[in-house]
Amino acid sequence: MEKILVLDFGGQYNQLIARRVRAMQVYAEIKPYHKTTLSEIRSEGYKGIIFTGGPNSVYAENAPRCDGDILTLGIPVLGICYGAQLIAYLAGGEVRAAENGSEYGKTVVYSEENRLFQDVPAVSECFMSHTDYIATLPKGFTTIAHTDKCPCAAMCDESRKLYAVQFHPEVTHTVYGNQILHNFLFSVCGCAGDWKMEDFIERTIEKYRKELAGKKVLLALSGGVDSSVAAVLLHRAIGKNLTCVFVDHGLLRKDEGDFVEHTFGEKFGVHLLRINAEERFLGKLKGVTEPEKKRKIIGEEFIRVFEDEAKNIGKVECLAQGTIYPDVIESGKGDSAVIKSHHNVGGLPSVMSFESIVEPLRDLFKDEVREVGEKLGIPHALVWRQPFPGPGLAVRIIGEITKEKLDLLRTADAIFREEMERAGMEREAKQYFAVLTSVRSVGVKGDSRTYGYTIALRSVTTDDFMTAEWTRVPFEVLERASSRITGEIAEVTRVVYDITSKPPATVEWE
Ligand code: XMP
Repeated sequence: MEKILVLDFGGQYNQLIARRVRAMQVYAEIKPYHKTTLSEIRSEGYKGIIFTGGPNSVYAENAPRCDGDILTLGIPVLGICYGAQLIAYLAGGEVRAAENGSEYGKTVVYSEENRLFQDVPAVSECFMSHTDYIATLPKGFTTIAHTDKCPCAAMCDESRKLYAVQFHPEVTHTVYGNQILHNFLFSVCGCAGDWKMEDFIERTIEKYRKELAGKKVLLALSGGVDSSVAAVLLHRAIGKNLTCVFVDHGLLRKDEGDFVEHTFGEKFGVHLLRINAEERFLGKLKGVTEPEKKRKIIGEEFIRVFEDEAKNIGKVECLAQGTIYPDVIESGKGDSAVIKSHHNVGGLPSVMSFESIVEPLRDLFKDEVREVGEKLGIPHALVWRQPFPGPGLAVRIIGEITKEKLDLLRTADAIFREEMERAGMEREAKQYFAVLTSVRSVGVKGDSRTYGYTIALRSVTTDDFMTAEWTRVPFEVLERASSRITGEIAEVTRVVYDITSKPPATVEWE
């Protein structure tokens, strides 16, 4: 199988490089520069190598540097940002700090005709983020692009197939970035582009079949996309040696617990333990109104339930998690296994010790995880499920949580979701749900005065959930949801729609 090595020098977009390459159907693997030997590179038969960016200066005392002989292996190399400067340094050029300051952000780049810039206009926009620059080119190299501030925005030695770009082609702000990467892969490295996500699935299953042979693995299944895909993938690899624990804390949406149990237990034949812990959780939450306290109680109780269950299972060597690449970044990136508390678990069981943590989706982005999920035959509704917070409906009931309120909210939430989906809004709205406010108001139903609950409907449109716009849901959809909620739930007298963006509000109400 043809593959590209992405040699990691610590830059923030490294995974993005691998993702772009994979999107062009060429397999890319990221390896840390200091743990990758020349003989390993030779024996792996890479079609090309990409040096990533990094925060250092090549002359800094602890600057990450690889063996200069890497440039003599005859394998094409593309250096990006720091990687470009490193090529200059290793090949005998000179790198200097820019006298006129650093370049940051969208920048106009002037490029020359060259294999790397095939089908790229002579003047285009790129994304720059650097202070140092290549001041003197190494022997054999020529400048093939510049900007107003940077005399060498790209250079190459075509005879040795060595290329370097000061800007970041992997970032969308570089308008022709994909074309440049494409040119490197197909025109310079001669890749065929026949890699498919099925190959990732097969390799991963094969890898864990070998690595986890004879070992027992435990996975906390939340029913979210990531832990579900991890569960099915590992189940394919190790079958009954995988035990999935699904803690139903009673704070899930309508029919969610049964759906998870049915999908994994019956459809996929996964060894699944569903723990019905509603009473335990509601007992702990009794009388609690403060949002942060609710979250803390739920997180802690989750661990206790999980621990109790794990004790019954007996010796377990490994803990599996559905950590995906954005989680790795969030939790402080490193090349050693970062043990991140799973979003929907709230933390790792402290009294349990595992030989190792297994994270099969660690290198993938959300859309790639979804693609894997689809290929594994996981139901569409689960693969495309909107995010759901670990503390569940507890953060969507303002004030004290009771079983009555939970049931009422579940019904209202299911109605709103149904109406949104019926209207085809689920692509535009990334998260939509109902909230049970603590406001009671006067109403009239039939001929009687009522004094009932107020339900708030919330829908947001967003790419990353860091910021979000309230969704412009058509009035007719809101009207249908409102009349159904007040009609089908006797205790609700009023329905309001939340028209606040994030910031200043958050997506959840608590
Ligand atoms: P906020 O409310 O912070 O939500 O704007 C942003 C995204 O995060 C989800 N969220 C959570 N997810 N545990 C989770 O696993 C939590 O405690 C939690 N709080 C918020 C929220 O649903 C939205 O998608």
